[in-house]
Amino acid sequence: IPTVIFDDSDEASRVAAREIASEIREKVNQGEMCVLGLPTGSSPIGVYAELIRMHREEGLSFRQVITFNLDEFYPMGQASVHSYHQYMYKHFFNQIDILPENVYIPRGDLSLNEVYQFCRDFDKKIVDAGGIDIQLLGIGRTGHIGFNEPGSQLNSKTRMIVLDTITKQDAARGFGGMTKVPQRAITMGIDNIMKARKVILLGFGEAKTSILQKTIEGPVTEQVPASYLQQHPNAKIYLDMAAAMQLT
Ligand code: F6R
Repeated sequence: IPTVIFDDSDEASRVAAREIASEIREKVNQGEMCVLGLPTGSSPIGVYAELIRMHREEGLSFRQVITFNLDEFYPMGQASVHSYHQYMYKHFFNQIDILPENVYIPRGDLSLNEVYQFCRDFDKKIVDAGGIDIQLLGIGRTGHIGFNEPGSQLNSKTRMIVLDTITKQDAARGFGGMTKVPQRAITMGIDNIMKARKVILLGFGEAKTSILQKTIEGPVTEQVPASYLQQHPNAKIYLDMAAAMQLT
C-alpha cells in the first residue's frame, strides 16, 4: 500500500483534507454530489478541523456532499455523549453547511429485530448515492477498520459485530471503565470499504506502529482486517513519525 510518512499528524491531516476538498470541488464542477465515507475517533479530528477552516476561510461548501459514517456502538442512543452521532455533529457537521438529509450514520438505538433491515438499507443507500468517492479511515490496535474486527471477511457488508477486548480497552477511558463500553457495534463491512473509489487511512501515534507494520508489510489476512487494503487499487496510508517506527 502506498505509504507516506509526514513529520506530524497535523501535516498529514492537512494533506488529507486538501485531497477531500479537491474531490468535492471536482464533483461540484461536474454537477454531481460528492460521497464521503467517514470515521470517528482521535485520528480524523485534524482533518475535520482543516475542512472546517476551509469552509470558513476559503468558501468550501458541503451542500453537495453526502456522508456515510463507518460505525456506531450498539446499543447507543443518538443523544448520548458517547455516540458517534454526537461526535460527528460536534467535531464536524455543526460547523459546516452540510444538509442533515445527506448525513447517514449507523443507528445504535434500534431494537435487535430492526438491525438487519437497517443494515440492508444502509448498504443500498451507499449504492443509490453512487458509491463512496473517498473513504477516510483510522485503524484500531486490533487492525480493525470501521469496527471490522479480526475475523471479518472480505465480502462483509454493514452488520452488527462484537467488539474485540482490545478495542473495548481502548474505549474504556472515554466511557469511564471497561464494563461501561457496549459489547457490540454496527459497522460498514470490508466490502463497503473496498468498493470506495479512493481510500485514505490515517495511522498516528506509537500505539499503532506494530499493527501498521503488519497491515503494510504482512500478509493479507482476516486476522488483520486493514491488510485487505493491500488489494485496493487506490488506497494509501498517511503516517506520522511515531506510527512509522517499525516499518522496515
Ligand atoms: C471509528 C472507527 C475506528 C477508529 C479506530 C481508531 O469510527 O472506524 O476504526 O478509526 O478505532 O481510533 P482512534 O483514531 O481513536 O485511534
